[in-house]
Amino acid sequence: MLRIFPNAAEMNAFAAEKFIEIGNKAIKENGRFSVALAGGSTPKSLYRLLTSEKYVNRIEWKKVFFFFGDERNVLPEDEESNFKMAKENLLAPLNVSEQNVFRWQTEMQNAEQTSKNYAETLRAFFDLKENEFPRFNLILLGMGEDAHTASLFPFTEALDEKEKIAVSNCVEKLNANRLTLTFPAINNAENIIFLISGASKAEALKNVLEGARELKKFPSQAVDPVNGELFFLADNQAAQLLRV
Ligand code: 6PG
Repeated sequence: MLRIFPNAAEMNAFAAEKFIEIGNKAIKENGRFSVALAGGSTPKSLYRLLTSEKYVNRIEWKKVFFFFGDERNVLPEDEESNFKMAKENLLAPLNVSEQNVFRWQTEMQNAEQTSKNYAETLRAFFDLKENEFPRFNLILLGMGEDAHTASLFPFTEALDEKEKIAVSNCVEKLNANRLTLTFPAINNAENIIFLISGASKAEALKNVLEGARELKKFPSQAVDPVNGELFFLADNQAAQLLRV
């Protein structure tokens, strides 16, 4: 489902309501809410909104368990860290217990080992058997100007991963090894919400939603939940080239 909003504030208000709705439903049905957070800068304002008076008391945060769809292979206190961004804008203001936060252990500075450990963490939390994938109640995703999502960048190896839950992905253009959930793990979620804001994303969003199906060139096209809901939330700026 595509929803277009006049501005990022209204997009975030809708996303916050969906977060609370999905979370309370999960807590009611399973006693807990598992959410994989998006990195980058777009989600910052949503995270801050969730800690505001309007939302902070609308869910039992101690029953919310936080994961990360991807991470940069930097220390958790590094400015580039997605964990650091979420901690500053969401987890610390909510005083979330460490037991409720599952970050990629990048202090190992060994992307391969960190991704293996993260997969084990997910297997344990979701009590997975061999070859099973975690089923997050919600995965939040951003989208880059090159139509990447999480750290699944165009023409990178991780796009073809069909068995692993989490991998290290060599991104040549960044000259970096990124850490990311794979498409099978992402697509097993109950709910996936893309948050896309700003004119710089307009070309990519048009390609992803209205362009030819080219999954290696436009990786966000490969986000397609096997049994779940997919929401593309965009502000007018990001949606300005769409035919809709
Ligand atoms: C990351 C993110 C990445 C991000 C997009 C959009 O680690 O950077 O997971 O996929 O969502 O690059 O980033 P912005 O929101 O900063 O534009």
